[in-house]
Amino acid sequence: MGVLSGKVAIVTGAGQGIGKATALRLAREGADVVVAEYNMETARAAASDIRALGRHALAYHIDVSDVKMVRKMAKDVVERFGRIDILVNNAGVSEIKPFMEITEVDWDRITRVNEKGLFFCLQAVAAQMIEQVPEEVKKAGKADRSYGKIVNLTSISGQRGRPLHPHYAASKAAVISITQSAALALAPYGINVNAVSPGVVKTPLWKQLDAERARLTGARPGESMEAFLEKVPLRRAALPEDVAAAIFFLCSPESDMVTGHTLNVDGGYEMH
Ligand SMILES: NC(=O)c1ccc[n+]([C@@H]2O[C@H](COP(=O)([O-])OP(=O)(O)OC[C@H]3O[C@@H](n4cnc5c(N)ncnc54)[C@H](O)[C@@H]3O)[C@@H](O)[C@H]2O)c1
Repeated sequence: MGVLSGKVAIVTGAGQGIGKATALRLAREGADVVVAEYNMETARAAASDIRALGRHALAYHIDVSDVKMVRKMAKDVVERFGRIDILVNNAGVSEIKPFMEITEVDWDRITRVNEKGLFFCLQAVAAQMIEQVPEEVKKAGKADRSYGKIVNLTSISGQRGRPLHPHYAASKAAVISITQSAALALAPYGINVNAVSPGVVKTPLWKQLDAERARLTGARPGESMEAFLEKVPLRRAALPEDVAAAIFFLCSPESDMVTGHTLNVDGGYEMH
């Protein structure tokens, strides 16, 4: 029995990287997990790893930027598992491209997933979480415990200018804002909404960005991570499991009094 026993969690983009580490961590803590993914091959593998931990898992095909699919997912998960207690809005995309070369297509591709997709996933799941809140809590407009946990993935890129991925940085700044708005909107129901803000995390996404940066600047692969780590007080890149640990905290009863917060998991890079 873990602290999340009986809870049903949806983790978007859980086929690899931070999402997969999070799905496995939540499962280890007792949750049943929906691996909501674009890539069904990685989704099925992650779901099978979760089942090996003795939990129920569902590999669910979705493009989070498609609002119809997102609303259908919330319904399908309730049909299958009966409820939704946790949402980790993790699916995200990025690219390295100079400020003056960003096209309208680039802008839409990044923000549709990271900003619009995240907002409507949150809204669809929050609607179900609100349904699960007892009538007396709804009437009182306050609760003495949490009735749902939502964690959004932002980035340190959302906290400062980024000339080599301004569209990504803008979408991640929007995630911080959406987190605060949602925390206020859902507080009367006892639903907690927080964000986790990683620095550099060793995932396939980071490898992709490093390769793109190397092509653009002529740096050798890995050089940009080394340069970044020089400025990180803890002097190392995060592992997906480091980020998953922070997400788990924000999904657990230990964080019932935390809402609207953005938690940096960046080795001390940003401090403000
Ligand atoms: N890796 C880092 O250094 C880092 C740093 C800060 C923030 N983040 C954020 O953390 C999150 C996870 O990053 P990661 O490094 O694990 O990325 P990743 O690319 O390794 O994994 C992302 C997963 O999301 C899935 N996905 C992408 N678009 C999707 C869509 N439209 N619908 C459904 N699934 C989709 C992909 O198939 C992939 O499995 C992202 O939001 C990212 O912006 C990552």
